[in-house]
Amino acid sequence: MCGIVGFTGSQPASPILLEGLKKLEYRGYDSAGIAVLDGDKINMAKTRGVIKNLCEKTHDGALLPGNAGIGHTRWATHGAPNDVNAHPHMSNDGKFAIVHNGIIENYAELKEELVAKGYKFKSETDTEVIAHLLDMYYTGDLKFAVMKTVSRLVGSFALGVLCACEHGKLFVVREKSPLILGIGVGENFFASDVTALIAHTKNVIYLEDGELAEITPDSVTVFDGAGREINKEISRVVWDIEAAEKGGYDHFMLKEIMEQPRAIKATVEPRIKNGRITFEDGGVTPEFFSGIDKIIITACGSAYYAGCVGRYVIEELCRIPVSVELASELRYRNPLVNGNTLLIVLSQSGETADTKEALRECKRLGARSIAVVNVVGSSIAKLADHTIYTWAGPEIAVATTKGYTTQVAVLDMLAVYLADIMGLITPERYSQLLTGITQLPSLAQRSIDLNTHLEYIAKRYSSCNPLFFMGRNIDYAVALEGALKLKEISYIYSETYAAGELKHGTIALIEDGTLVITLCCYEPLYEKTLSNVEEVKARGARVLAVVHEGNSKIFPLADDAIYVPKTDALLAAACEVVPLQLFAYYVAKDRGCDIDKPKNLAKSVTVE
Ligand code: G6P
Repeated sequence: MCGIVGFTGSQPASPILLEGLKKLEYRGYDSAGIAVLDGDKINMAKTRGVIKNLCEKTHDGALLPGNAGIGHTRWATHGAPNDVNAHPHMSNDGKFAIVHNGIIENYAELKEELVAKGYKFKSETDTEVIAHLLDMYYTGDLKFAVMKTVSRLVGSFALGVLCACEHGKLFVVREKSPLILGIGVGENFFASDVTALIAHTKNVIYLEDGELAEITPDSVTVFDGAGREINKEISRVVWDIEAAEKGGYDHFMLKEIMEQPRAIKATVEPRIKNGRITFEDGGVTPEFFSGIDKIIITACGSAYYAGCVGRYVIEELCRIPVSVELASELRYRNPLVNGNTLLIVLSQSGETADTKEALRECKRLGARSIAVVNVVGSSIAKLADHTIYTWAGPEIAVATTKGYTTQVAVLDMLAVYLADIMGLITPERYSQLLTGITQLPSLAQRSIDLNTHLEYIAKRYSSCNPLFFMGRNIDYAVALEGALKLKEISYIYSETYAAGELKHGTIALIEDGTLVITLCCYEPLYEKTLSNVEEVKARGARVLAVVHEGNSKIFPLADDAIYVPKTDALLAAACEVVPLQLFAYYVAKDRGCDIDKPKNLAKSVTVE
């Protein structure tokens, strides 16, 4: 969702801001703008639509000279996506320009108060109140005005402030919305995520909720909520700019699908030491699990579907009840958790609002928590008792791929680790599963290599709408993710059914030519799934079967087949999902969809 950037230094600010905004495009947005201080005047340009429009409007920034500025990509919440509602927003006298991510919940009453004082509002946004509050409280001390303003705000905000009276100075505040400072030489930056900074610096400071910072070309000073200067650790980003670029692929999504073998390897390998699984990098020790009698996995979107895989694996190996809960539901359900509950939170971004709040609520009720997160230093990573990072590297395409498979890999490992400390697994089975986990990267690669024909298959089926997925056990969980991928990027109505449930309604929807994608890799229930294939086939369905490589018996029952390499039945998901991602990708490509930035979707959903 919304993205913010800021720069102060000796170079022209506008091109740096525009470049930074381009890097944030993947988060999802519908309008964009920048404001730059030129002498004593703040100039601003903003527009509905893509950053390209903003580049054209500003002649790639040349029309807005100056060395300090702020920029924003907006994903509309309050007020339509148009030029006026786009950020930055300015105070009436043009003294302040601000950019804001998040939501100001009490904006209506603040607006009433400000209107009564004579302030004129131009936009329908919640954000504009901030510009006027700053103006009201500014008497020459920017930090005071910012703190006073923040004390009036209820909600979530990452805020960037530019003031015409404060040359070269930016102010930022973080409250429940990500904000990172980039430390350069003679220049400094801020942004809502590292991708916007990495071209300039790898040295970053992760701000915490309630903190604010004053940024000049030569200094970055961080304050706590009470205004006291605090020392912050400078972290070093471990990946390079290339990781956030397409590297020759048509789309980030395809690049990220292809990166999965490497991403899984980076996630798995460092956690196998001397033939044993360890999570000591996340501070997780066997003692942490003592007395746990129930596990809740919570997440949103694909991460939730990764959790569905996790439930099958953990329950099977650990014989402990596992429920998978949508975070948006869990957080408001007065959940049944206590000190013996283990909460596993899955989030690629580490910033998803519902996931974060579900974690907060369960922690409040006493649950022990582990977060499986990709973005280092993100809010969820900080909030959980322990964090296990998925080392997938930056994920730019809105529809997650390597984020999902690395989450699944961590859950597989966690299941084996737990089963071992609970004494529920023989040494033979432990080493069998460990071997299986070690092989996941090469098997994911095999999944890619086996499916070079998918582009052609996808073309054959790209006009099938609606279509259905079915499967049993882990096949079912993977099918849920396969259908979501199609919905997200190709806008095809695709729904998943547990194969055994088909007869209870859905089969009425099957008619001549309906596509049913059937996952038939979970061997213990293979025959049962085949009888469901027979049933849909008998009613005229076209069947695209996902089967183990070498399975030719599936014909003539299936019209086409997608192949995956054979793994231990419990570990199949990370490889089985790969061709489904590729299928969705090629279908969307054939339908001419904007694959990396699907309509209405955002990468990081920071509002509920
Ligand atoms: C958005 C993304 C999905 C992602 C979900 C949860 O909807 O488009 O790809 O699965 O958020 O995100 P998280 O960052 O918490 O994994």
